[in-house]
Amino acid sequence: MADVPNLNLNNGQTIPQLGFGVFQIDPAETADAVAKALDVGYRHIDTAEMYQNEKGVGEGIRAAGLDRSEVFITSKLSNAAHRPDDARAAFDGTLAALDTDYVDLFLIHWPLPTSYDGDFVSTWKTLEEFYRAGRARSIGVSNFQVPHLRRLAAETDVVPAVNQIEVHPYFGNEEVRAYGQEHGILTEAWSPIAQGAVLDDPTISTIAERVGKTPAQVTLRWHVQRGDIIFPKSTTPSRIKENFEIFDFTLEDEDMAMINALDKGEEGRTGGHPDTLAFP
Ligand SMILES: NC(=O)c1ccc[n+]([C@@H]2O[C@H](COP(=O)([O-])OP(=O)(O)OC[C@H]3O[C@@H](n4cnc5c(N)ncnc54)[C@H](OP(=O)(O)O)[C@@H]3O)[C@@H](O)[C@H]2O)c1
Repeated sequence: MADVPNLNLNNGQTIPQLGFGVFQIDPAETADAVAKALDVGYRHIDTAEMYQNEKGVGEGIRAAGLDRSEVFITSKLSNAAHRPDDARAAFDGTLAALDTDYVDLFLIHWPLPTSYDGDFVSTWKTLEEFYRAGRARSIGVSNFQVPHLRRLAAETDVVPAVNQIEVHPYFGNEEVRAYGQEHGILTEAWSPIAQGAVLDDPTISTIAERVGKTPAQVTLRWHVQRGDIIFPKSTTPSRIKENFEIFDFTLEDEDMAMINALDKGEEGRTGGHPDTLAFP
């Protein structure tokens, strides 16, 4: 089994390109799922305050008998906590729930440009505090559109290490990815298999049959070859393993192009739109 590549973030830290996502995993089942993923070999867990399962993530890591330093942990600020004092309290809560004194990466989950007087800049400056104190080894954003990123560039000091956005074969999100590439911000692709919606696609199935892999593996491999970071979610042990086995084959340029061509633009978006998603 080939190793998971580590990608360089813009601040000298590194991140495993493949992780394990825990969105929609029941808090009571999270520790088991995380321990299973770590047993398979994952060393990167993506959680969030809003998933309400940070405690299970910490428990799963301890249950697996791994040292804290062996696992890259990402969490995200709740949409309910953008005001600086709320963000400070929420971040304390994240560290307490995970039972750790730092996270590897902490993100603003959504920009919420129509809430909090449109002020995600103060929120970002609060994350800069966590970063400078070493309590977040890296900081980044999620669901930020290009104008949001431009505003951070103009008004703040630290360039986000990543932007975690919806990306899968039906929604390439290319404009936001391109801005990241130009500015040293790595793209993290959420819902990398579109929660299963791309797995019956005839183009993907045909490629999968030819290369002797599953549609999920082909799709995840496509992301990896585009340079994005992914963390597929599953609570099914066989799929947790399947999604990890994507480093022993390569897609040809022609296959990559065929999957790129499945992009439906905005029509392919499955989640909320970052310009309009609001709190509460
Ligand atoms: N920042 C954000 O706003 C945001 C939004 C959404 C997601 N995320 C992050 O991205 C992660 C992944 O996204 P996601 O959970 O939305 O969706 P996903 O990883 O694209 O898909 C997960 C779904 O696909 C199924 N599945 C997983 N592997 C499979 C396989 N090999 N074959 C067939 N089905 C498979 C899972 O079912 P079973 O579990 O039943 O196996 C689950 O229903 C999340 O966990 C979270 O960490 C972030």
